[in-house]
Amino acid sequence: MNRKTEKYIAFCAGAVLFCVGVVSYAAFPKKSMERPVRIMFQTSGGNVLFLHNVHADKGNYGLDCADCHPAWSSDEAERPGSCTGCHNVENHDDGMLKRSDVLHTLCRGCHEEGGHGPVEKCTDCHVL
Ligand code: HEC
Ligand code: HEC
Ligand code: HEC
Ligand code: HEC
Repeated sequence: MNRKTEKYIAFCAGAVLFCVGVVSYAAFPKKSMERPVRIMFQTSGGNVLFLHNVHADKGNYGLDCADCHPAWSSDEAERPGSCTGCHNVENHDDGMLKRSDVLHTLCRGCHEEGGHGPVEKCTDCHVL
C-alpha cells in the first residue's frame, strides 16, 4: 500500500466511525427524569405558585437539584420524592421539622442569601 491509499483507508474508517457515533447518539439519547413544570402549593396562608422549571432549567435560574432536594442521592433512577416523605404536614413529636417550616426556610433562605426573589412580602409568594 502506498501512503495515499493508507490515508484514504484511514479517512473512510474515520467517517464510518463518525456515522456510527451519530446514529447511536440519536438512537439512545440519555434519558432524564420527568420533572414538574410548576407546582401549586395549597396552604392555609394562600396558594403558592412555584415555577419548578424556571428555577431548575439551565437557560433560566439553573439551580442544582441538590440545592432543593438535599436528601436525594442525585441518582436519576430514583425520584427525589415529596418532602412529606420525611417532613410531616403537622407537628409530630418525632422531632422531624415540619414540611411548611422547611419549605419556608428553603425558599426564603436562598432568596435572602442571593438578594433575589421574595422574602418578606408574603403576597409575593402567596398570591392566590
Ligand atoms: C428551587 C428549588 C428546586 C430545584 C432547583 C429543583 N427542585 Fe425539584 N422540587 C422542588 C420542590 C419544592 C418540589 C415539591 C416537593 C413536595 O411537594 O413535597 C419538587 C418536586 C420535584 C419532583 C416531584 C416529586 C417526585 O419525586 O416525583 C421531581 C421529580 C423533581 N422535583 C425533580 C427535580 C430535579 C431532577 C431537579 C434538578 C434538575 C430539581 N427537581 C430541582 C424544588 C426544587
Ligand atoms: C429522606 C428524608 C428527607 C426528605 C425526603 C426531605 N428531607 Fe429535609 N431534612 C431531612 C432531615 C433528616 C433533616 C435534618 C433536620 C431535622 O431533624 O428535620 C432535614 C432538614 C431539612 C432542612 C434544614 C432545616 C433547618 O432549619 O435547618 C431543610 C431546609 C429541608 N430539610 C428541606 C427539605 C425539602 C424542601 C424537601 C423536599 C424537596 C426535603 N427536605 C425532603 C430529611 C429529609
Ligand atoms: C437555591 C435558590 C432558590 C431556592 C431554594 C428557591 N428560589 Fe425562588 N428564586 C431564586 C432566584 C435566583 C430567583 C430569581 C429572582 C430574580 O431574577 O429576580 C427566584 C425567584 C422566585 C420568584 C419570583 C419570580 C418567579 O420565578 O416567579 C418566586 C415567586 C419564587 N422564586 C418562589 C420560590 C419558592 C416558592 C421556592 C420554594 C419552594 C423557591 N422560590 C426556592 C432562587 C431560589
Ligand atoms: C418564598 C415564598 C414564600 C414567602 C415569601 C412566604 N411563604 Fe408562606 N409558604 C410558602 C411555601 C412554599 C409554603 C409551604 C407549602 C406546603 O407546605 O405545601 C408556605 C406555607 C405557609 C403557611 C401554611 C403553614 C401551615 O402550617 O400550613 C402559612 C400560614 C404561610 N406560609 C404564611 C406566610 C406568611 C405570613 C408569610 C410572610 C411573612 C409567608 N408565608 C411568606 C412560601 C412562601
